[in-house]
Amino acid sequence: MNILLTGGTGYIGSHTAVVLAEAGHRPVLLDNLSNSSADVVDRLAQITGTRFPFIEGDIRDTALLRRVLADEGIGAVVHFAGLKAVGESVEQPLRYYDNNVGGTISLLQAMDETGVGTLVFSSSATVYGQPAYLPLDEVHPTGATNPYGRTKLHIEEMLAELAASGTNWRIACLRYFNPVGAHASGLIGEDPNGIPNNLMPYIARVAGGRLPFLNVFGDDYPTPDGTGVRDYIHVMDLAEGHRAALDFLAGSAGAGWHAFNLGTGCGYSVLDMVRAFEQASGRPVPYRIAPRRPGDVAACYAKADKAADQLAWRALRSLDDMCASTWHFQQRTAR
Ligand code: NAD
Ligand code: UFG
Repeated sequence: MNILLTGGTGYIGSHTAVVLAEAGHRPVLLDNLSNSSADVVDRLAQITGTRFPFIEGDIRDTALLRRVLADEGIGAVVHFAGLKAVGESVEQPLRYYDNNVGGTISLLQAMDETGVGTLVFSSSATVYGQPAYLPLDEVHPTGATNPYGRTKLHIEEMLAELAASGTNWRIACLRYFNPVGAHASGLIGEDPNGIPNNLMPYIARVAGGRLPFLNVFGDDYPTPDGTGVRDYIHVMDLAEGHRAALDFLAGSAGAGWHAFNLGTGCGYSVLDMVRAFEQASGRPVPYRIAPRRPGDVAACYAKADKAADQLAWRALRSLDDMCASTWHFQQRTAR
């Protein structure tokens, strides 16, 4: 099938393109390059032996999307495009609503007009807000603690109402936990501009000597070692979750709206991650305890049974693989 990947040159989109191509699909990438580079298209060609069609464009350009959906004979869309920095969303909420919510409305209008009804949406565990219980299952109440999270929640709700409005829609919202790691080639991975916000790219730069030490945001949480606990998932496992979701949507149970957690079900603390990275890289990761980061929760991890039961998907890769592949990418390709 021809599958449009909005945000296809980004971190998760590029890894998913590899998995979809391996499964016999033809990925078509669309991205405005606001947080990625066109070099990724060359690297994907190096990995897969196939040059995927790439359209440099914005999801808010409905006419462009209509053209791409029709001209490329698109059968399904995987919608990664979006802005994702929590702190930035607090400072620039309108930009986040315009890009994420406005961009999704534009995409949905183009899909509606061209009769493409199958959509996999990049959602986030952030839609659960403050956890009321752990592990988080899909019926946990939803909420938002910042504008970024609220854009994800609004989009999910909009998609649920859209799916209820007609019979053509087959929509899966994939609630990612904490994606980390890189493709085994070391050619694609996560390489944020500036100082990384997220733990894994920050640790990788400390191990590589590009940053002096890690700030550990809080060591007085009610967790086993006092540092924050998260459900880190290898980006290749996550990518395979998208293939599984597309298969599910194509089947008899796929009509309507669905939400799935994509996580491992295991929680690791910040210090667990530091130790695992030191082991995988053979490099020290010096750290200092710093104050808690505003808005952080103590612990967040998934119950991933629904995806196992309905998508026949499970995360398989280990913490060591997450760290080793990040390190490999850091050394081979990261700027
Ligand atoms: P990313 O920034 O690497 O990829 C997103 C891509 O979308 C970028 O290449 C960017 O240039 C593109 N983009 C942004 N706005 C666009 C627009 N208006 N038109 C066209 N392209 C646009 O981020 P990622 O980590 O690959 O995340 C992909 C999706 O998954 C995002 O929607 C993100 O919110 C969601 N998500 C990510 C995480 C995470 O920790 N990485 C966790 C949960 C959910
Ligand atoms: N942390 C540090 N030092 C750092 C960076 C992070 O100690 O320099 C800690 C955080 O306090 C937290 C853990 O490492 O305990 C993970 O932090 P990340 O920023 O890597 O990830 P978050 O869980 O805060 O958020 C991520 C994405 C969100 C998404 C959420 C749930 O950034 O967009 O996962 O999917 F919503």
